[in-house]
Amino acid sequence: MPVAISVEEEILELKRERNAVLLAHHYQESEIQELADFIGDSLELARKAQTTTADVILFAGVYFMAETAKVLNPNKIVVVPDVNAGCSLVDSCPVEPIRAFKKIHPDHIIVSYINTSVEVKAESDILCTSRNAVDVVNSIPADKPILFLPDVNLGNWVKKETGRQNMRIWQGACIVHATFPARRLAEAKAKYPSATVVAHPECPGAVLAMADYIGSTSALINYCAASEAKEFIVMTESGVKHSLYKNSPEKIFHFVTNENCNCSECPYMKLNTLEKVRDGLLHLAPRLELSAELIERAKLPLERMLAIK
Ligand code: 13P
Ligand code: SF4
Repeated sequence: MPVAISVEEEILELKRERNAVLLAHHYQESEIQELADFIGDSLELARKAQTTTADVILFAGVYFMAETAKVLNPNKIVVVPDVNAGCSLVDSCPVEPIRAFKKIHPDHIIVSYINTSVEVKAESDILCTSRNAVDVVNSIPADKPILFLPDVNLGNWVKKETGRQNMRIWQGACIVHATFPARRLAEAKAKYPSATVVAHPECPGAVLAMADYIGSTSALINYCAASEAKEFIVMTESGVKHSLYKNSPEKIFHFVTNENCNCSECPYMKLNTLEKVRDGLLHLAPRLELSAELIERAKLPLERMLAIK
C-alpha cells in the first residue's frame, strides 16, 4: 500500500519538480508562511519576484500582487491559489474614472498604491507601497500636482508626512484597516498602558494619531523586533502574528478587532489554503495571463518605483 504523504510534503515535492518559488504575504495563514521560500510586504515581494530564477511563481497573497509579479516576469508561469483573492482597494478604483481624470487634468502626476488593478497601474506615472509612499511622493517635483490613489488613509498620512499641498486623494479604503475603531484602540491603550502602538498606514487618521510607529507590514514586524519595548498593540491584519512571534518570541502582542467581523482578518487573503497552493502547483493553474501591451504599460511606473527604494 502506498504511504500517504501530507499536503505539506506534496507542496515541497511539487515545488522541487516545478522549479517553483512560493512567495507569501505576511497576511497568509501560518501554515502557508511556514512553507514559503520568502515572506514579505508587498514591496519586498515585488523585489523578490523581480530577481527570482524559478520557472514558476506561486503567489500566496492577493491578485494584484500576483499581477505585479507577472508584469515583472512576462515569460514565467505565475499561479495564484484562488482567483477570488481580491482587494477592496482595487475594487474602489476602476480604470475609467482615472482615464477621464487624466483627460481633464493632464498636468497631474498619478501616484498609485500597488493595491490597484494592472489597468490602473498602466495609467499611472509611478507606483508606491506603504513602505515607500513617502519617498515616492518626495521624489516628485514640488510644483507638480498629484493624484494619489486609491487609499484615502494612506494618502492623508503621506500628505501629512511630506507636507505636500497640491495632492488630491482618491477616497478608497481597505475593508480591514478602515474599520479599526479609534475607540477600541483607546480602550486597549487604557488596558495595556505600557504597550507601544504600531499601525499600518491604511488605518484611519484617528488611529494613526495614537500610534507610536507607522509602517508597512514588514516595517512593523522589524520595528517590534528591534524595539526595547516588550508589549505592543498591533493595528494591522492578524496574519503578522506569525512573523511577530517568530522574530520576538519573548514579547507580547495585542490585536484590536475591527467593527465588521470582530476579528482583524482580511477575507481575501484568507481564501488561500494549503490545498489550493498544492493544486496550483499540481495543475499550474489558475495562471495569470496579461497582454503584452498591458505589461509594457504597467511596467514603466512599477520600475520607476523600484528604482527609488
Ligand atoms: P504591505 O505593503 O504593508 O505589505 O501591505 C499590503 C496590504 O495589502 C495591506 O493591507
Ligand atoms: Fe486589500 Fe485590505 Fe486585504 Fe490588504 S488587508 S489585501 S488592503 S482588503
